Amino acid sequence: MAAGLLGIEGLGRDEIEAILTRAKDFQPMQDHAFKRLDVLRGRMIVNLFFEASTRTRTSFEIAAKRLGADAISITAAGSSVSKGESLVDTLNTLAAMRPNAIVMRHAASGAPHFLARHLPIPIINAGDGTHEHPTQALLDARTILDNLPTLEGLRVAIIGDIAHSRVARSNVHLLAKFGVDIVLCGPASLVPAELAQIAPGVRISYDMCEAIRDADVIMMLRVQLERQHETAFPAGEYFQFYGLRLEHLQLAKPNVLVMHPGPINRGREIASEVADSQRSVILNQVENGVAVRMAVLERILG
Ligand code: NCD
Repeated sequence: MAAGLLGIEGLGRDEIEAILTRAKDFQPMQDHAFKRLDVLRGRMIVNLFFEASTRTRTSFEIAAKRLGADAISITAAGSSVSKGESLVDTLNTLAAMRPNAIVMRHAASGAPHFLARHLPIPIINAGDGTHEHPTQALLDARTILDNLPTLEGLRVAIIGDIAHSRVARSNVHLLAKFGVDIVLCGPASLVPAELAQIAPGVRISYDMCEAIRDADVIMMLRVQLERQHETAFPAGEYFQFYGLRLEHLQLAKPNVLVMHPGPINRGREIASEVADSQRSVILNQVENGVAVRMAVLERILG
């Protein structure tokens, strides 16, 4: 971990618990009038985003600043990447400015791992292709634990485009380490059977009602059209079979939590009434993004 954070798969339960506990300490800061600590004063964090982001990039930047660090965000579109510079050259250029850590999002699975092998700077994975998005899984776990006493023994249904989702993969790794009963659900083209092998305690269902029955948590996922190269996606039909609607919530536990990493596509994978319902913790997830990323940055750089 001293080297950075590349994925959940390689983290131990104790490390995950330490981050989640520390994130809880940072939660009340959201409501303080003066939101700045000195823990990382003088440190410089570069956010390098080769893919679109609203929540992740902003919350890493806010987290760094709340800890007293300086944070700079660079997006591929506005950088020399758009002039044809290679990934290694861009990274060597940034490394020459001696940041203390690089937070990176890239469309290629494994891109941050590649850089971590080449640069003597901690790399934090903010999403690599279809592979992992570790801080998302951590903030999701923080959000579940803000509402339920323990992860052990919960039933979590993850529904949607599992095949292309780094959020699903990181969540499966994390939840499986804590003995969660995980159901992956979606159309067969987006939920290949081999995904059941990712971790123990994972099963697959192609029937949304079956997946949701008795669930403590429903995690909805966006269909990652940018990672699919097939012809026109049947959005209406998708919503009919795999869109979360109010009537589905009756099948789950009475206090079921509805989660979504965002950005949500209303009417495509989730009905507006559900996204805005009492059961939805979607904005709590966003809020926890800052606290969890503070805990991660402090652990790596503090
Ligand atoms: C996710 C991502 O980029 O992987 N968004 C996020 O970080 N909150 C999920 C998505 O884009 O659908």
